[in-house]
Amino acid sequence: YTIAANQVKAKVSPYMYGIFFEDINMAADGGVYAELVKNRSFEFNTALTGWKEQQKNGGAGKVTVVNRADDRPENPHVITVDVTSPAGYFGLSNEGFRGMGIKKGETYNFTVMARKPSKNSTAIQVELHSAKGLVIGKAQLAPVSTNWQKYHVQFVATATDSKASLFVWLKGKGSVDLDMISLFPAHTWKNRPAGLRADLVQKLADLKPGFLRFPGGCIVEGRDLANRYQWKKSIGDIDKRENIINRWNTEFAHRPTPDYYQTFGLGFMEYFLTAEDIGASPLPILNCGMACQFNTGQLVALDKLDPYVQDALDLIEFANGGLNTKWGKLRADLGHPKPFNLKMMGVGNEQWGEQYIDRWKVFTKAIKDKYPYIQIISSVGPYASGKEFDLLNTTFRGLNADILDEHYYNSPKWFLDHANRYDNYDRKGPKIFAGEYAAQSKTTGSPDNKNTLECALAEAAFMTGLERNADVVVMASYAPLFAHVDAWQWTPDLIWFDNLRSYGTPNYYVQQLYSLNKGTDVIPLLDGDKAVSGQDGSYATACLDKSKKELIIKFVNSTDKSQSVEFNISGINISGRATMISLGNTDKTIMNSLDKPMAISPITSTMVVNGKAVKLSVAPNTFKVIKLKT
Ligand code: AHR
Repeated sequence: YTIAANQVKAKVSPYMYGIFFEDINMAADGGVYAELVKNRSFEFNTALTGWKEQQKNGGAGKVTVVNRADDRPENPHVITVDVTSPAGYFGLSNEGFRGMGIKKGETYNFTVMARKPSKNSTAIQVELHSAKGLVIGKAQLAPVSTNWQKYHVQFVATATDSKASLFVWLKGKGSVDLDMISLFPAHTWKNRPAGLRADLVQKLADLKPGFLRFPGGCIVEGRDLANRYQWKKSIGDIDKRENIINRWNTEFAHRPTPDYYQTFGLGFMEYFLTAEDIGASPLPILNCGMACQFNTGQLVALDKLDPYVQDALDLIEFANGGLNTKWGKLRADLGHPKPFNLKMMGVGNEQWGEQYIDRWKVFTKAIKDKYPYIQIISSVGPYASGKEFDLLNTTFRGLNADILDEHYYNSPKWFLDHANRYDNYDRKGPKIFAGEYAAQSKTTGSPDNKNTLECALAEAAFMTGLERNADVVVMASYAPLFAHVDAWQWTPDLIWFDNLRSYGTPNYYVQQLYSLNKGTDVIPLLDGDKAVSGQDGSYATACLDKSKKELIIKFVNSTDKSQSVEFNISGINISGRATMISLGNTDKTIMNSLDKPMAISPITSTMVVNGKAVKLSVAPNTFKVIKLKT
């Protein structure tokens, strides 16, 4: 193979490899949002989902759900707990999100909104129970006011358990009203109170992503318009963020998760902050007046679209506006006077048909008129939808769209066969955002659809084609991102977790190797006069990192035989020590797991290189990154 280091073909976008975040598979509630209590504000369709009445030592009483919708439409339900027996304990337990992950020695913050309706109010005793029923942490507090007030108590857990539960006992005859019963670890990402799970956000930070797309995916659309994602309802006081049913609540039919709701504890402010923390450009996707076409497909009439469009304009002001603007001031009041430097925004997710185009035009005109610098991401949906995908592609070209969001969920073979997808692509039209992709070992959502090395290698091969065509492809992200091992709706996923642990899949390490070694300038890597895209099962690309002064070669051997390869490099002197990073195994069905999180992970070695050629043997089923100092 030849590499001409002095012939730059394309600049690599600084945002090239990013993250797609969606609250699917309990990614937010029950996942990265570190709240341990499920249904803390009693807003699920069945108000006591996740809760159970409890009594011990002769305690007795009753729990009543009270509806105060007239006063608080966004958080209507509270409970009244009446303790009728002076002896023993009466109360409720909460099961958490498939249990609660508790760590020995860790500090926990229990908070509750409470008021005592009468003088005979009862004291609250909080206990953490292990799966076996042992008390592994406890604390007390006593509501004192007849008005709603927030109470807080801290305690340290005495044991580790991934399936613990919370007991809220009331002691002494009397009654108390409760809402927003919450338990968080004190240690969160950046130790923000009521924040995010540190281990999970660290995994995102370790990707050094160019962008963070949020909040989806299909949850942007919602199962119906009433249950769409509305960013304005996801910011500010936590007890005023209206809960809704998650779009993934009943998907797939064989794995329904009827307890899947969105509390918006991870809302737009938290998304913007997280993006900033991990150095990613924020990329919000907004509902365009269409509910998910796989569900109700509800539509907002064109003459009723104004509030939706206004949400988009206000979001830009919220992210970038000065302190003299309404929404910029709100951002400052929420603790972030500096702008978030929003540069791009998605209009709609996986929508299709004329209905989408009509609404897209209204949004695009309004956004571009006021904020011409915002790049608009337009969805062309899943490649697998065939005719719709092609039609949207052609239509958006005609409309001079900025960036098209293409989704590919397909077999490993499809990814290998389409690694050359952009080699002869129209350079004059919109840029491409490979916004969702993942190789599927079996049917999507099937329990047998796995994050195998074979799938990861197919993605690595496909990505050689993305990088080689970086003048067209400006952004890419694997999807979905997170999955709880006990509560997923979709497989495969990039990062898996339980209530205490997490691991990156082989696919995660492919994303990381691309992102950490993305380079600045693509240069030609050729087999004769052809790109290396499938010859003998090999896929390759090369780029320079001008700031780090490196030449970076990415090579995928997708076969089960070793490959001897030689790269002849011109236009640059590469003598010295090369760094070689390998991700591979003779068994391409291998996967990582909670118990073996690093079974497939990058291994680094070095090699001395003399003259103008790099010769090496690449092991079977291996993705190799070779870095040469220039
Ligand atoms: O990534 C999972 C889903 O796949 C997304 O929500 C949707 O955009 C796509 O269909």
